[in-house]
Amino acid sequence: MAVAASTVNGFSLTPVSKADENYHRPTDLKAFDDTKAGVKGLVDAGITEIPRIFYSPPENLNSDDVSSETQIHIPVIDLDHIDKSTVDRVREASEKLGFFQLINHGIPVDVLEEMKDAVRRFNEQETESKKQYYTRDLTMPLIYNSNFDLYSAATTNWRDTFGYISAPNLHNPASLPEICRDILVDYTKRVMEIGKLLFELLSEALGLNPNYLNNIGCSDGLAFVYHYYPACPQPKSTIGISEHSDTDFITVLLQDHVGGLQIRHQNKWIDVCPVAGALVVNIGDLMQLITNDRFKSVNHRVVSKHEGPRISVAGIFSTLVLPSNKLYGPIKELLSEENPAIYRETTVRDFSIQFRSDGLGTSTLKHYKLNQAEV
Ligand code: OGA
Ligand code: NI
Repeated sequence: MAVAASTVNGFSLTPVSKADENYHRPTDLKAFDDTKAGVKGLVDAGITEIPRIFYSPPENLNSDDVSSETQIHIPVIDLDHIDKSTVDRVREASEKLGFFQLINHGIPVDVLEEMKDAVRRFNEQETESKKQYYTRDLTMPLIYNSNFDLYSAATTNWRDTFGYISAPNLHNPASLPEICRDILVDYTKRVMEIGKLLFELLSEALGLNPNYLNNIGCSDGLAFVYHYYPACPQPKSTIGISEHSDTDFITVLLQDHVGGLQIRHQNKWIDVCPVAGALVVNIGDLMQLITNDRFKSVNHRVVSKHEGPRISVAGIFSTLVLPSNKLYGPIKELLSEENPAIYRETTVRDFSIQFRSDGLGTSTLKHYKLNQAEV
């Protein structure tokens, strides 16, 4: 017998407790998408139980698998005074954890605060005003939706996101929503500057000319995703962002004070604790590919919490699916007889299309391994 679905705001989504063999996930996904109101819309409607599409069995979330080894924490690197030891720290973090935090990076605290506030304003404006931006059409200047991989992912994430491609410039900034336009443009410029500096430090850390990574185009593309993770009534049964690695060269992330970001290290989850005023940097798959596995693109996730909303802004150094014919493979200068290339060459577009078709949580890199038998 089919069970009655709960009705929220005129649409029906099956709650976790009412699921039976007649449950038809695609119907609920479509109903949720059609609201164009995201997870925030569910919270606004006063739900007290997460709809079944968000449910992820607790054993899949292995939430108590968190490392108690307090000695492992993500290095905090001070950019106030850059010297050889800065390069050494960047190298060590990129080789071991794939993550580090930056302080004294030059972006004033009030700009960081305004950036997070703009994400909050966008998500907390009237649903009717926000709906016009809700789309899965990648050619739109601003893409707002919940779960970019809604129809392909195994579990739906407790998160709404909007994003745009800021470099190379495709759209006139005037097409961005007024509620957040100025800060989006300002913050973009500042993250681009930090990115260029980071690529210099990473080049030096690899023993290359400081301009190497910028010259081969690592900073040609910069896109942003602005995440809004509403407070969750059943945080242990769902996830904010599923375990994944980033497909870009590097990501520069601003997170607020709520926390929840974790990285997988030696099969344990380690918290990336919020540090006021800091930016989190992580190595992406394309960087792992061109460094022939020397720098690590490490899996990470965001757990849901009762507390919220949590806001984060990820600056993604990649041209993503934009037309590209530049080929990226392991950097020749880093290869030797003892260290032969383990990946084949790819364009950023090819790599990004592969990721889009696989969805979050799958390894894009494995498709590019030369010796598939090792996978
Ligand atoms: C991402 C990501 C983490 C966060 O956007 O790829 O991992 O803290 N975000 O939102
Ligand atoms: Ni990520």
